[in-house]
Amino acid sequence: MTATDPGIDYNPYAFALHDDPYVTYKRLRDEAPAHWNPELNFWTLSRFGDVLEAFRDFETFSSAGGVALEARRPVSHRPGEFHQMIEMDPPDHTAFRKLVSRVFTGRRVAAMEDEVRGIVNHYIDTIIEAGRGDVVLDVTGPFPMDVICSVLGIPPESRDELRANADQVLVREDGSMEIPQAALDGMFGMVQYFIDDLAGRRGGPSEGLIGDLLELEVDGRALTEEELLGFCILFVIAGHETTTKMVANTLELLSRHPDQLAAVIADPDLVPGTIEEVLRFHNSTQYMHRTLTKDIEMHGRQMKAGDSVLLLIGAANHDEREFGPTAEEFDVHRTPDRHLGFGYGAHFCLGAALARMEGKVAIEEFLRRMPDYEVDHDAKVRFHSSNVTGWTNLPIRFTPGPRQG
Ligand code: HEM
Repeated sequence: MTATDPGIDYNPYAFALHDDPYVTYKRLRDEAPAHWNPELNFWTLSRFGDVLEAFRDFETFSSAGGVALEARRPVSHRPGEFHQMIEMDPPDHTAFRKLVSRVFTGRRVAAMEDEVRGIVNHYIDTIIEAGRGDVVLDVTGPFPMDVICSVLGIPPESRDELRANADQVLVREDGSMEIPQAALDGMFGMVQYFIDDLAGRRGGPSEGLIGDLLELEVDGRALTEEELLGFCILFVIAGHETTTKMVANTLELLSRHPDQLAAVIADPDLVPGTIEEVLRFHNSTQYMHRTLTKDIEMHGRQMKAGDSVLLLIGAANHDEREFGPTAEEFDVHRTPDRHLGFGYGAHFCLGAALARMEGKVAIEEFLRRMPDYEVDHDAKVRFHSSNVTGWTNLPIRFTPGPRQG
């Protein structure tokens, strides 16, 4: 006899959920830790221990069926698809990850800090004299794309086009798992950009990480066109959207916790811990999708090979079983030993050190240059996606200051 669900409606595409998903997440953890959505056909794991174990156990919870619910497919690679390491399991994944991991080590990332600070201040300069602006449109939207493009070797004149396409890719319609045409157009635009870019680079000098990838080999052979495209698209999407959202989420959360904002302004050493708490408390990535490779039983539920499973990071990071009785509180003084904001195991976020540094630098500069910023909470506009939390618009006011550049 298998257990059943106690009528919890969890649909990650429902806009109504996005305002406060954490009430539903708590019910999932407490009442249906292995929850089945019968309309959209997927399981959800929400307890910290289960999500961590599923991230670790790639043999049972495979990435090869896609890591986005709406892009799921049978666990096999179709020739002609662009092939991304985030959708491979070890051992295939291991060789691809090794190719690029050295670029994102702590030491390499630390060496980029001055450049990143310059980029952030360039965008803050565009609003600092006015005393008002939109955090997302003016600063946090543009700057991470500049950073990842600099790593990849993509020239400044191409970045606006890539950003516009990347911004479309994650947009979803209310309650629907259908990928909207605008999102498909964004993806096609990006793929076409890189097809042209790679063609232009072949046979000539080629900058940045893309230049390196054209020279590198996996299993004694050069990367195929689809593998190169896979890397380019993965880096642009992973490097831009999550970090953009994380920095704006931090400013929005601090503005609703004035005591904690004052504490961070008084002691900038609290900034790295604040970023860590935002990654735990309100992560820009809410879940990752996996596909079961065999039948298993969890919490009295029979789960079948081929079934979809969401690893609900957002719920796991609020689990009292891991974070104690204050798990549902935002606290910049908390120093969580571990959270799942960057995933866990083989696919642990490759850009974690970069994202942490970008977040630290951006928050340091915002608070240094506009410490009295106030968010216009009535005018802010939520970004709706199925697994990315953040803001489309976050208007602020502050005392004007001088440009730096
Ligand atoms: C706040 C910012 C970020 C968050 C919350 C985040 C979150 C995540 C998560 C949860 C995963 C695990 C995926 C899985 O297990 O299926 C992941 C993987 C990844 N992230 Fe990030 N990420 C962020 C920033 C970045 C940045 C700046 C980069 C730029 C290089 C990046 C590149 C990647 C890549 C390449 C992977 C795939 C790693 C692999 O398959 O081995 N991420 N990220």
